Amino acid sequence: MASPKTVFIETYGCQMNVSDSELIKAILSKEGYSFVPTEYEADIVMLNTCSVRENANQKVYSRIYEIRSRRKNNPVLVGILGCMATNFKTALLEDAKLKIDFIAGPDSYKQLPHLIQDIGGKGPKPFDVTLSEFETYSDVYPLREGGVNAWVSIMRGCNNFCTFCVVPYTRGRERSRDPHNIVDEIKQIVAQGISQVTLLGQNVNSYRHDDTDFTELMRMVSDVPGVKRIRYTSPHPKDYPRKLLNLMAERHNICKQIHIPLQAGNSRVLDKMNRTYTKEEFLELAEEMKMIMPNISLSTDIIVGFPTETAEEFEETLEVIKKVRFSQAFTFKYSPRKNTLAMKKFADDVPEEEKARRLTALVELQRPISLELNLEQVGHVQTVLIEEEGTKKSEEDFKARNEANTIVILPKGPYTKGDYIQVEITGATSSVLIAKPLYQKTEGVL
Ligand code: SAH
Ligand code: SF4
Ligand code: F3S
Repeated sequence: MASPKTVFIETYGCQMNVSDSELIKAILSKEGYSFVPTEYEADIVMLNTCSVRENANQKVYSRIYEIRSRRKNNPVLVGILGCMATNFKTALLEDAKLKIDFIAGPDSYKQLPHLIQDIGGKGPKPFDVTLSEFETYSDVYPLREGGVNAWVSIMRGCNNFCTFCVVPYTRGRERSRDPHNIVDEIKQIVAQGISQVTLLGQNVNSYRHDDTDFTELMRMVSDVPGVKRIRYTSPHPKDYPRKLLNLMAERHNICKQIHIPLQAGNSRVLDKMNRTYTKEEFLELAEEMKMIMPNISLSTDIIVGFPTETAEEFEETLEVIKKVRFSQAFTFKYSPRKNTLAMKKFADDVPEEEKARRLTALVELQRPISLELNLEQVGHVQTVLIEEEGTKKSEEDFKARNEANTIVILPKGPYTKGDYIQVEITGATSSVLIAKPLYQKTEGVL
C-alpha cells in the first residue's frame, strides 16, 4: 500500500476533545495528510475518545467493531487518541478483538506522523501515552473548518482530583498557555471571519501564566478588535473570582452566561467528592452572580448516586435546583472510573434503579424551570448569531443562538451563517426559543 494519507477523525467527549481534533488536523495537514468525512474513504480512522463515564468507553468499542465490519473487504488502520488512550494505555493494543493499530494520548499528538510511519514495522505496535508537564501546543494553531464559534484551549490538564473524575489521570497536570499566544490566535480567528470564541479549560479559574490570571486574560481577549462574543467553560465554584463577575458585567462582548458545575447539593457528599465548597457557598456564589448580572443564564452539571449519597441528601440537590433556577442541567449517573479515589475507596453502593429514579426526578424538576425561563423571553428583542442554515426539523429554518447560549429557531431570510441579527422571541419550549427576525443586522450582542 502507498503510504496512508487520508484520515477520518471522529470525536467523542467534551469540547476540549473537539478542539484537540482541530489541533491534530493542523499537525497532520502540515505533513501532507488530508481529511475525509467518513470511514469508507479513509486510509486511517482516528477515534478521539472520552473516558469520563463507562458508556463513553462502550460507545467507542462498538464503533470500532462497526468500522471493522464496514471495511472488511478493504481493511483500514484504526488509531485510538484522547482520554481512553491514557486511561487504558497498551491494554488497548493488546486486546486481540479490537485490533487497534496505534494509540496516542492527549499530549502526544505531535508524535502522530512518526507513530503512523511505524505501523506495520518490526517492533511493537506504535504508541505514545506520555503525559507532559509542559506541552500546551502553543506553536500549533488548530485547523478550524466552517463553524461560527472557535474553541480556544487556554490550558490543559487538571490538578483538582475530584474523587469521581478520571480527567486528572487522562490529561495530566494543569498548565496554562502564554496569554499573548492566546491573543495572537484569537486575532487570527477574527481574521478568518469567526467572531465568537469559547475559552476552554478543565478549571479556567486556575488559569495562571506569570502574572496573568483568568480575569486578566478575559480582559485581554475582550479587548481584541472584532471579537463579538466570548464564552468560557468550565469554571469551578471553589475559586470563582468575584472580580470576573464585575468584568463580565462591564464588557458587552462577554456573554452573560456561566456554566458552573454543582455536582451535588449536599455538603457531606461534596466533601466526599473533594469539591471543596459547601452547598451554602455554592448558593451564595449563584446569588452573587445574579446580583451583579440580573440577566445571567446559569447552567450546571450534576452527578446522582455518588457512593453513600442518601435519598435525603439527594433531596438537597433538588432544593439547590429550585433555588438557583438553572436554565439547563446536564445530569449523569455516577460511574466508577479506573484510578480514581472514589473507585478505589468507596463502594458503588447506590443501586442502579435508585440512580435512575434520582435522574428522572432531576430531569422532571429541571424541565419546567427551563420552560418557565424560556417563556419569560417571549416578546423580548434579542440579538442572535446564525449557526446553521436548516435545522433537524426543517430546511426552511435557521438555527441560531442568543447571548444566554439558548438555541433560537427562526425562518430563513436574507442573511447567512455567521450574521448577528435582531429577532423578537415569539415562542418557547424547554429547550429552544422560536423567533421572528426584525431584519436588522447589528454589530454584536445588545
Ligand atoms: N472539568 C469539568 C468537568 C469535566 S467532566 C468541570 O469540572 O466542570 C464533565 C462532567 O462529567 C462533570 O462535571 C461531571 O458532572 C461528570 N462526570 C465526571 N466524572 C463522572 C463520573 N465518574 N460519573 C458520572 N459523571 C461524571
Ligand atoms: Fe474532573 Fe474535577 Fe478536574 Fe473537573 S475539576 S476535570 S470534575 S477533577
Ligand atoms: Fe473530556 Fe472525556 Fe477526556 S470529558 S477531558 S474527553 S475524559
